[in-house]
Amino acid sequence: MINISNLSKSFGNFKAVENLNINIQKGEIFGLIGPNGSGKTTTILTLLDILDPDPGAKITIDGKEIPKKINEVYPKIGFMPQELSLYLDLTVEQNLKFFGDLYKIPKAVIYSRIKEVLELIDLKEYRKRLISKCSGGMQRRCSLAVALLHKPEILILDEPTVGVDPELRIEFWNYFKKISKEDGVTILITTHYLAESINCDRIGLMNKEIVISGTPLDLMENVKKLKNLEKLPDMEEVFIYYTHSEMEKKMLGGLKA
Ligand SMILES: Nc1ncnc2c1ncn2[C@@H]1O[C@H](COP(=O)(O)OP(=O)(O)OP(=O)(O)O)[C@@H](O)[C@H]1O
Ligand SMILES: [Mg+2]
Repeated sequence: MINISNLSKSFGNFKAVENLNINIQKGEIFGLIGPNGSGKTTTILTLLDILDPDPGAKITIDGKEIPKKINEVYPKIGFMPQELSLYLDLTVEQNLKFFGDLYKIPKAVIYSRIKEVLELIDLKEYRKRLISKCSGGMQRRCSLAVALLHKPEILILDEPTVGVDPELRIEFWNYFKKISKEDGVTILITTHYLAESINCDRIGLMNKEIVISGTPLDLMENVKKLKNLEKLPDMEEVFIYYTHSEMEKKMLGGLKA
């Protein structure tokens, strides 16, 4: 559903993403996991044709070449950016109505759909509140509601659970799993919470490039074997193992050169 090969993105002389390759199947939840500044948001913005990649990248979404055919795939995508992208002087409900109109949701169904997503993100009682008066967590929840509003086939979520209560985070993940399994929605998600990555079907540990990818369980079992551990490590240990060994390799390479 989403294929990225050979993606690099430079800002001047600085390479934020280097030779990244990912294939995401329909109905799969794929997690891009990496530390601050590892290129997750840059990858997503390039995928959505908001940033131009360096020459040589090949990207397709639903078989359509990006950026050439981006307009054909935009209506299928729900995007929740890392930064707030709501109108501060509109209420929660007015924001949803505005974006619903942009997505061309028919008038007859828009209010019932708004009601559904408000229930899902637990903001129904705050629907008349101005976004400027909402807490950070409420604003994040409303951004997620916007991304879900038109029932997209592809969801691209950049840190959707930051600042959200633990209980609601679990509900979000249950919902993501449900729509991926039942409706075949393809989800590309980034998260800082390493423990959450266990909810993904596959993850790619990222540090400018994909250091390693696989199912969370496969990666945990690999590290258990490689480190001769008695029990499965948690995702933090997996992450540290792979990112450190990658850094060590690079340092050794540098020393040799
Ligand atoms: N427009 C830009 N101009 C210059 N450098 C940029 C620009 N956008 C991003 N960068 C740099 O590229 C690198 C990757 O940034 P990016 O936002 O993709 O990281 P991230 O993995 O999403 O981090 P975080 O977890 O903090 O969201 C960082 O070093 C960042 O400072
Ligand atoms: Mg980011």
